[in-house]
Parts: sequence; structure tokens; C-alpha cells
Amino acid sequence: MPASQPPLPRSDIVTRLRAAGCVFAEDEAQLLISAARTPAELAAMVAQRAAGLPLEHVVGWAEFCGLRIAVDRQVFVPRRRTEFLVGHAIALARQASAACAEGAVVVDLCCGSGAAGAAVAAALGERIELHAADIDPAAVRCARRNLAASVQVHEGDLYDPLPAALRDRVDVLIANVPYVPTGEVGLLPPEARIYEQRVALDGGADGLDVLRRVTAAAPLWLAPGGHLLAETSEQQAPQAAGILARGGLIPRVASSSEMNATVVIGTRQAGCRRFRAGS
Ligand SMILES: C[S@@+](CC[C@H](N)C(=O)[O-])C[C@H]1O[C@@H](n2cnc3c(N)ncnc32)[C@H](O)[C@@H]1O
Repeated sequence: MPASQPPLPRSDIVTRLRAAGCVFAEDEAQLLISAARTPAELAAMVAQRAAGLPLEHVVGWAEFCGLRIAVDRQVFVPRRRTEFLVGHAIALARQASAACAEGAVVVDLCCGSGAAGAAVAAALGERIELHAADIDPAAVRCARRNLAASVQVHEGDLYDPLPAALRDRVDVLIANVPYVPTGEVGLLPPEARIYEQRVALDGGADGLDVLRRVTAAAPLWLAPGGHLLAETSEQQAPQAAGILARGGLIPRVASSSEMNATVVIGTRQAGCRRFRAGS
């Protein structure tokens, strides 16, 4: 729809969005005007956004690492701070890829829309073997839309659906698991609390239960010298690093105050492979 002829004057849209509590009402109005194909669609989009639906669910996509990622209703909206984790994942995958002619093996566990895996794939091109997995069927469907047909997207609980052939071979294990403590889920903004699935947010009593489960099995899947990366809050980071250490990984914490992001990285000791083909 031409932005020059909106059926609703732009100023009215801004006023409506602002009244609904949208902090970036001007930017959002512009995005809705350019996304709507018809005047009726624009009116519907403005109404949905004013009612609280996340902007990304209204337009059907989110910008992430310079990519346009499709985000279906109910599916977790990739957060900009996760670009920090992805930056580390790309650097580690590049190192692994440079060290091995076959390219790096990357797994995006708890993939949601598949945004993290898509960004790593965009950065490394064909030099990775990428797998993604999520327990939520809606997320799996969405990830399949965002990831190339060559990427295997698996449905199931954590590692359960991954092919056994990946054991001992994963160079970079991205696990942006849910990490909100159960008692704090109710304090999240309505966009998350109402429109995203609880399974995408709730990390158990201290927010670290899913990370504990991911870490416990990580040494079985990581290649020697391979890395597990997980986002946490700043407060959780010391405890999360302890979980990685107790899981047999060498932990480190990276943070960015600019992006309000904290990532824990656990590295498996370089050494002998645990499984060998044919053994
Ligand atoms: C915080 S969201 C992150 C999604 C995506 N990685 C991103 O960064 O946008 C967590 C995701 O973990 C998935 N999840 C939660 N528990 C899971 C489990 N036990 N096994 C697999 N996926 C799980 C949720 O469905 C959700 O998509």
C-alpha cells in the first residue's frame, strides 16, 4: 500500500499507538504503514498493535542480525540482545570451520523461530552443517520457514530428536534456553507474558533449570574443544558459570552493557573423542 495515501492519517495512528503505551509510536506507525497491503489491513494491524500484540507478530517478522526473520503468532520473538550471543557463536564457528576442511557443526537448540541459526548460517555460508531443534511444534514450523531446506529442524525435548551421528561432533551448541525464574514470569511485559508461550520463558525456580539439563548432556554432544553458548541475566551469570563448570565444561562469561546482554560459554576440553564411528 502506498505510504503516501494511508486511510488512517499517520498522526492518528501515532496518537493511537502512543495512547496504547507504545514507546516508539512514530517508528511503529511507519512500519505498519509500509507493511500493510490494503487500507483495511492497516486498520486491522493498528487495532492489533493497540490491543497489545507484539509488533513482530502483527507484521509477521522481526529484524535480527540484519535478516528478516518470520515470526508466527505464539512463537518467541528473537530479541536484539541475542545478537550478542550470535556474534560469539559466529566467531567460534569460524574458528572451528577454519580448523576443519569439512566445516563446523552447529546446533541451535531451543531454536524458536530459528533466528540464531539463520544468522550463523548467513555469516558462514556453506561452511557449516547446521541443525536446529525445539519442543514447540509452532516454533519448529516457523524455523523451517526461516532456515534453508538443507538445515534439519527437529522437534522434541532438548537433544532427544537430534541424530545420534552428531554425538561428539558439535563445534558450536547455541542454547538460548528459557531463563526467566518462574516467580518473575508474571512481571514480564504483556507482549511476552500474554503472547509468547510459557515454555519459551519459564526457566524454573531460579531460571536455570533448562540450562542445567542442557549442560548435563552437553559433553556427550560437543566435539573436543566445542562450545556451549547460553544467554542469562547478569545476576544469573555466576551461578550459570558454576553449572557449566560442574558439568565438566570450562566456563567464561561475556557481557555487553550496550546490548544489555550476558552470555555464558562452556568449552569442552580438547582431547580424545568420546565416540568413534564403528567403535
Ligand atoms: C527464549 S526462547 C529462544 C528462542 C530462540 N532461540 C531465540 O533466540 O529467539 C526458548 C525456546 O526454547 C524452547 N524450549 C523450551 N523448553 C524446551 C525443551 N525442553 N526442549 C526444546 N525446546 C525447548 C521454547 O519452545 C522456545 O522456542
